[in-house]
Amino acid sequence: KYSITSKADYKISKKLDTADTFFEKGQLDEAQKHYESILAKYPDSPRAMYGKAETLNKLAELRQSNPVLEESIETMSRVLQLPDTPDELFIAAGRKLADRQQFRGWGGKAVGTWKQIIQRFPDRLEFQNQLGVSYLMIGQNEKARNAFKTVLEKSPSDGFAQVHLGFIIKTGDNNPQAAIPLLRAGIESGATGTIDGRFFFHLGDALQRTNQSDEAYRIYSLGAEKGLFLSTYQRSLYNSEGLTGRPWWKPEQTGYAHYLKLLEDNWQTIREEGLSQLDPKTGAFIPEEENLREKGDWKQFTLYQRGRKNENNCAKVPKTCALLDRIPDATSCKRGQIKFSVMHPGVHVWPHCGPTNCRIRAHLGLVVPPGPKIRVTNETREWLEGKFIIFDDSFEHEVWHDGKDLRLVLIIDFWHPELTEQQRRNLSPI
Ligand code: LMR
Ligand code: MN
Repeated sequence: KYSITSKADYKISKKLDTADTFFEKGQLDEAQKHYESILAKYPDSPRAMYGKAETLNKLAELRQSNPVLEESIETMSRVLQLPDTPDELFIAAGRKLADRQQFRGWGGKAVGTWKQIIQRFPDRLEFQNQLGVSYLMIGQNEKARNAFKTVLEKSPSDGFAQVHLGFIIKTGDNNPQAAIPLLRAGIESGATGTIDGRFFFHLGDALQRTNQSDEAYRIYSLGAEKGLFLSTYQRSLYNSEGLTGRPWWKPEQTGYAHYLKLLEDNWQTIREEGLSQLDPKTGAFIPEEENLREKGDWKQFTLYQRGRKNENNCAKVPKTCALLDRIPDATSCKRGQIKFSVMHPGVHVWPHCGPTNCRIRAHLGLVVPPGPKIRVTNETREWLEGKFIIFDDSFEHEVWHDGKDLRLVLIIDFWHPELTEQQRRNLSPI
């Protein structure tokens, strides 16, 4: 403990060790008392302040208490302000503080903490990288970009900065060409924090979008080998373990056949309501916004998302939503949506994977001209009016519409049938 003990703390190190021992044994109240009594006499003791903050943090966890967490954060921030905090303790406290601030939802304060650390250690590039990450977490992409660029100016082969800058250029600037060398070099560095599904995902995607799909699949299978993807073709990043994964599903395999039949039996009613919303003046279809299209006009009209009903939109298509309300396995699906999807001729949707393996996606054909088709892994199908096609959209899929008239479908995400009630309740929404 030499490196975290200041000269003054050295003189009271027995007391500090005793308090630490209580903390380590989980006797938090006892630890707390000891730290407090040290601080009463030595208010500038860095180790006692740090110990007190750590104890409060543990208590906050146990009691799931925000006020206690906030007190812990306040106490930890004092460790950085004390006159005599040793380097190593300063860094440990700074890391903890930024982490807890982020956890509390105070991303802006976490940024401030990293700045404070950088002020004391301007040459440690790892901290500049962490500053970049904390900017990313609050959506300040330009500031994040500058942080990673600063690192790369001083150390051009810093893998951590490379993958993050590549990620910003790919997802923020939508510039796959420029992102590829950075993502590739960063991943190949193997540096801490670079072997991450998101970077493999976007490197592969950037390669696919620039006509290098052989190389993309090399990256994807490497990602699968490293356990970052469920498989080369199933690349969702928010997964539940042990679920059956297959690209195309038959109605009987879902356990939802009766619901699918209910909707197929009423497909013309659903079609009428969907068509009624297509008028660009009065309708409320919204262009696809996830940057999945290479080209063309593709819009959606959402009825449920993240397990919640859009009351406004449902009021416009009441019969459809009344039918859907009888299908809790879909309306409660917090990891999916229910939406009309209209696709005009000329669309190409890039190959892509949905975010999660926790849902099964069913499309009910409503208006289906010749032309549009969808590939899921290696099998391409077409829609039929009044019929469902069912697939797992965590597998790679790609859509083309080379026909002459619009295509309209109702997209319904169901919970993966193997998820238990409890899992469905506890999974975070997407
Ligand atoms: C998709 O889910 O990516 C597409 O299949 C949606 C659509 O409208 O065909
Ligand atoms: Mn999709």
